[in-house]
Amino acid sequence: MVSQLTSGFNTQAAPIASPILKTYRARTRKSAALFEAAQRVMPGGNSRQASFWTPHPLAIERAEGVHLFDVDGRRYLDMINNYTSMVHGHAYPPIVAAAERQIRRGTGWAAGNRMQNRLAEQIVARISSVDQVRFTNSGTEAGALAFTIARKITGRRKLLMARYGYHGSLMEFETGSFGHEGPITYLAAFNDLANFKAVLAKHGNEIAAVFLEPVLGSGGVIPATPEFLKGVKAAAHKAGALFILDEVLSFRFATGGCQEHFDIKPDLTMLGKAIGGGFPVGAVGGAAEFMKVFDPADLKVFHTGTYNANPVTMAAGDVAVRELTGERIAVMHGLAEKLKDGLIRAVKKAGLPVSVNHFGSCLNLYFSAAAPESSIVREDTKIMGMFHHAALNHGLFLAPRGMMALSTVMTDAHIDEALERAGAALKDVAAEVQL
Ligand SMILES: Cc1ncc(COP(=O)(O)O)c(C=O)c1O
Repeated sequence: MVSQLTSGFNTQAAPIASPILKTYRARTRKSAALFEAAQRVMPGGNSRQASFWTPHPLAIERAEGVHLFDVDGRRYLDMINNYTSMVHGHAYPPIVAAAERQIRRGTGWAAGNRMQNRLAEQIVARISSVDQVRFTNSGTEAGALAFTIARKITGRRKLLMARYGYHGSLMEFETGSFGHEGPITYLAAFNDLANFKAVLAKHGNEIAAVFLEPVLGSGGVIPATPEFLKGVKAAAHKAGALFILDEVLSFRFATGGCQEHFDIKPDLTMLGKAIGGGFPVGAVGGAAEFMKVFDPADLKVFHTGTYNANPVTMAAGDVAVRELTGERIAVMHGLAEKLKDGLIRAVKKAGLPVSVNHFGSCLNLYFSAAAPESSIVREDTKIMGMFHHAALNHGLFLAPRGMMALSTVMTDAHIDEALERAGAALKDVAAEVQL
């Protein structure tokens, strides 16, 4: 087994003699040069593990609609949309207009602004468990803040999360995505209520909060069952812990967040990604009884940040959330279904094993007959890496681990095009597997 986290996603990919890799290198010389320069001043040549892959990641010059354009002048159909955050694609005109207008009117000050009210009002109107919200600059910060709230309320120090869950790039959460328990992190298997109950029965009095994604995102696009979510919430409450639902990714799945779909009301909700309209963002929302820890008259949690609720993010996010309508969500879901069916057909046609995890507008492709427990630890790392490079060679951009996330500006024709490009990439992979 190879962990994609420790391997940088596909360092185990095709050997140097690989025709796919040879083509990739030949097509991406300027990206390679930029990566080499980047390595001198940034360890690993990047600041984001998820935008790194071997032998070098693409450097993107600009992005528009459904397309990315790299520094070598090549165009890619973007099938991951910045890991779900660009829910309306790139440079979406209404968001560009709102952000441009705001940039001309100033980008930050240490006082309130109208735009934060508007975005907060929309979030509160859409998510029924959320009475009030605090903004941060990333989903990771939202996780840290939610954990701080839970610690203050319960007086406890530890957390429980799903093995291969992901709540941000923070040591307490990262151990979980690696599948390891940390000094303050307990793990239990996703969708295994008995396992969560057992950990809570044994360690409940140390646990401040249980964190769960309603759909494991980076873990491989695996939806929870409603019974699991409800059972974990009840068990958390029985143990005196808070139940925190991480909707950083899953907010895009329903107008009221995924909690509406699963009919579950968490104590706190983490938000991020799509609610920033393509700008850095995070948020924690919840019932007033929990959010009162920020009440200046009786302050329990000190929370500040130079760019929290900055007017540009708020203006862009306000448009992004307003334009993420139920109709548009339904269209994305239909297109993702078509993409899934088409991918399965195409991989089978190439004579390779396949399975696809799919929920809403996201999916994860596997080159194995059954999807593994997680996309992080899997048997098909080598062939996935080959496909990733081959897809890039054919102008198709997806996550190195096989994840895809659609945007509202995609059409049926884009899915047809994606399947055509994937088919060409799969031909190359099938030929190389024979070598
Ligand atoms: C479910 C979930 N929670 C938290 C995060 C962290 O958000 P950010 O990358 O904005 O720090 C992510 C990001 O991928 C996520 O998918």
